[in-house]
Formats: sequence, structure tokens, C-alpha cells
Amino acid sequence: MSAANQVPDPFTLVIFGASGDLTRRKLVPAVFSLFCEGLLPEKFSIVGFARREKSDDTFREEMHEAVKTFARVQPIDESRWREFARNVHYHQSTFEDTSGYRSLKQRLESLAGQSNAPCNCLFYLATQPTQFPLIVEQLEKSEFTRSDSSERRWSRVIIEKPFGRDLDSARRLNEQVKAAFDEEQIYRIDHYLGKETVQNILVLRFANSIFEPIWNQKHVDHVQITVSETVGMEGRGKYYEQAGALRDMVQNHMMHLLCLVAMESPNSLDAGAVRDEKVKVLRALRPIPPVCAVNGVVRAQYTQGTCLGEDVSGYRQEDGVSADSNTETYVAFKAFIDNWRWSGVPFYLRTGKRLPARVTEIGIHFKSVPQVLFNTDPAAPMLPNLLALRIQPNEAISLRFQVKEPGPGMHIRPLKMDFGYADGFGKEPPEAYERLLLDVARGDATLFTRSDEVEAAWEFLTPVIEGCAGWGGGLPTYAAGTWGPKEADDLIAADGREWHLMRRRTGKGAEAFEIE
Ligand code: BG6
Repeated sequence: MSAANQVPDPFTLVIFGASGDLTRRKLVPAVFSLFCEGLLPEKFSIVGFARREKSDDTFREEMHEAVKTFARVQPIDESRWREFARNVHYHQSTFEDTSGYRSLKQRLESLAGQSNAPCNCLFYLATQPTQFPLIVEQLEKSEFTRSDSSERRWSRVIIEKPFGRDLDSARRLNEQVKAAFDEEQIYRIDHYLGKETVQNILVLRFANSIFEPIWNQKHVDHVQITVSETVGMEGRGKYYEQAGALRDMVQNHMMHLLCLVAMESPNSLDAGAVRDEKVKVLRALRPIPPVCAVNGVVRAQYTQGTCLGEDVSGYRQEDGVSADSNTETYVAFKAFIDNWRWSGVPFYLRTGKRLPARVTEIGIHFKSVPQVLFNTDPAAPMLPNLLALRIQPNEAISLRFQVKEPGPGMHIRPLKMDFGYADGFGKEPPEAYERLLLDVARGDATLFTRSDEVEAAWEFLTPVIEGCAGWGGGLPTYAAGTWGPKEADDLIAADGREWHLMRRRTGKGAEAFEIE
């Protein structure tokens, strides 16, 4: 991982799909935050590349509004914005038009010339995935893809998810991109890896001596990974119809979480070493053949309901969604990692839209103590230890353990020891895109997905998706604002366990749904 304070070389960030939501909500606000924190080189520029006609000034005005709405630190410092805006430009062209790339080249050279800086380029593909091959091909044709170490000039490409829609298409896309760029120039982005708490998984595991000895099948009963969202389609129905929860969340974000929790210690923090260990986890996942996916993987769709106090429509009523859609908005399943460390330990994964709370949490559920001494009542077994890594919101780590209630009898109850990021450090962690964009500018690929990693994740999930696609019946449903279908509870109950965050409401905010 990169040296914390290293300022990158001067560079130009070219964003393809500059009129899109990602640019407005995430990318430009992230670059602005980096600028305000003094983490960018003195010479940098942003060039928005998109097909709509617009002037530099109009684009700057749009980005100004975006930053005022979405930048992490509010209100923004207007004088800093004016300095920043001088570096923001717009280039109009379609993605097909070769002359648009030629004029882009002249423009980048002239921007670099004006500031007397080498023409280092970072191309961000924030378009529809179907456009990725075309843009990469055009970049190659226009000779944008060469990094030249003698001139200390580099060229890098960032590719948004989804990277393919199954194993074959991911392989094809890898081939297309690798025909133009070397693997070291390719940054397949997954914003989950930029989240502070996700990076902290490795620190927790490998910078502390107390966890690693118990992080295995001898002590861990099972692991739960929950990514629960309250949002519905937010205008993305057309995209989501083609994706579903398995492609949208599981193949990427959840697989990364699983890898970081389960991997062996890498021998260094080099991008290669870390990614080697992640790939080993993916390769050790027990395959779920199509015929098993049909019954073993719970998929469901939300119907009309009340979410966060608001009446919301069902998935099939969302814009861009077919009235008889069979796309899943919820998925839950059990996975096994067939290696020495995790043999026999189930990993339960679930994710869904329109659930009652926005929570991403990894729960390491330890084995119960023996049924003697304090744990003798089979009708009321003691809750085992739980180490919960709250990825978002209210980023935290909490450990549940049993204590004696003060007083004459021997009453025992579970308590939690919490570490909250906001309390511990007095500030909110930075946005994932800030960290990731800075890493690409510094040339550090540790937090990006390598080609074999993306293919290994697809190798595991493609049979699951194929099995589910072959399912002729209707999908189970759940009312928006509830914790998913009964089938998901049955899945884990069949093993004598229950989901950690679930129906019982015990408090407020993100803590509202714990069992105890
Ligand atoms: C995106 C998915 O990758 O991640 C969205 O396409 C999802 O459907 C989003 O809502 C969740 O990201 P976060 O950071 O809000 O958890």
C-alpha cells in the first residue's frame, strides 16, 4: 500500500462519461476534497469527456453545484473552489469519433505544455460497461496507452464495475483491455476497497496478536456478511434489471469482504502479495453448481412497503423495470472455503435493497462455551462471543462477551465493548473514492482488482447465476422495509443459527436491529 504522504506526479484525469451521476456525485467531489487536503500535486487537471455540447464554464458550473451538494466537507470553501475550477475542463466528443480523441490529445498536450508538466494521464471509464471496449480501443489507436519510463510519463486506466456479466464476458473484456494496456496500467475499481473500515480488516487481523490465533475453524463457528441497503432503484432500474443483487453486490463488494476476512497473511503489503492471497481464497471457495444454486441460494424481490417511514413502491413498479421481472433485489446464501483454516465453517452472505437499515457488517461468531458451569440451561443457551466489524455507517468494531450482572445472584448477560471511528479519531473517515483516486495517481494497485481475481470471482458465481436463471418459478418476495424473505431466515435456521441483524428492534439508528 502506498506511502501515506507521497504526493503524486502531475497528472490529468480524463473522465469518460462526464455527464453521468458518478462524476457528479463521487469523482469530482473526491478530487476536490483531495485538493483541499493538499494531497494533489501543484499541477493537475480534470477533463470531462462526454457527447453533449457544453463549454468549459458550463461544465465547471455543473461541477460547482455537484461539489456543493456532495463534497465530504461542507460548506465548501468558495475561494478554494475558484482555484480548483481553473483546472477543470470539458471535451465534447462521442466515444466512437476518432477525431475526438485526436483533438483530446492536442488538448492534453497543450494543458501539460502550459504548466510545463509531463503528460501523465489517468483515464477513468465511468460509462456504460458496453462502451469500455470501444473507448479502450480508441485510446490505443490514438496512442494514449503507452507509459514511458524514460520520460517519466505514465498512462493508466480505471475501469468501473461491473467488469463483465459472467466468466466469459469478463475474460473477453480482460483480453480487450490487456491488448491495449499492461496489467500494471489497469485499475479495476471497486469502491468498497477504498472504505477505511474495509482496509482496517487487515490491520485488525495482522497488526494485533490476539485475533489471529483464534481466526480459524477451531474457534470460529461461522461468519456472517451483511450488506443491507434502504435505497431502491434511484433511477437505475434499467441497469439493475440486467444485473440483480448477485452481479451488482455479491460478485464484487461482498467477494472482496469475504477475501479480506478469510485470507492468509500476505508476506508484504505489495499489491502482488495482497492480491495473491485474495485469489487463493476465491479459488478455495466450494463450487455451487447450478443445480444446487436453485435450492440453496435464496433470491427475492421487494414489493411495496414502508421504508424509513416512507411509503415506497415495489421493484416491479420502479422505472425501467419490467412488470414481470424475475431480477433479484435480495440474495442470501451459504459458502464454504475448503482450506485448512476454514474447513467446515459456513460463511453466510446476504444483501438486499429496501431493507430497514443501511448497514454493512461482518460478524465473526465464535464457538459457544461448553454446556457446563454458566451455560447449563439448554433452553436458554448463552450467546457466544461475537466480533462485529461495522463497515458502515457508524464505522466501528464491537466485541460481545458475557459479564456478571452486579448483585447478589449469579446473573450473566452479554455486553458489548465498542470502538467507534468517529469517537476514536474525532472525525469521519474519508470517502472511498478519495483514497482510490489518489492511489491510482501514485501508481499503487493494492486496492484494485487484478485480472485473475475478477475471473476467479466470476468462476465461482457464474454457475450460481446460471442455476438461478434456469429457475422457472416465481421469486419469493418481501415487503420493502422488512429484513428480506422468510426463506433467508429458514436458510440459516436450518443450521440452528440466526441472522445477527434482524427483526427485533432494540434501539435507535444503526443499532436498531440487533438481536441482543
Ligand atoms: C454500487 C451498487 O456498486 O454500490 C449499488 O451498484 C449500491 O447498487 C452501492 O447501492 C452501494 O455502495 P455504498 O458505498 O453506498 O455501500
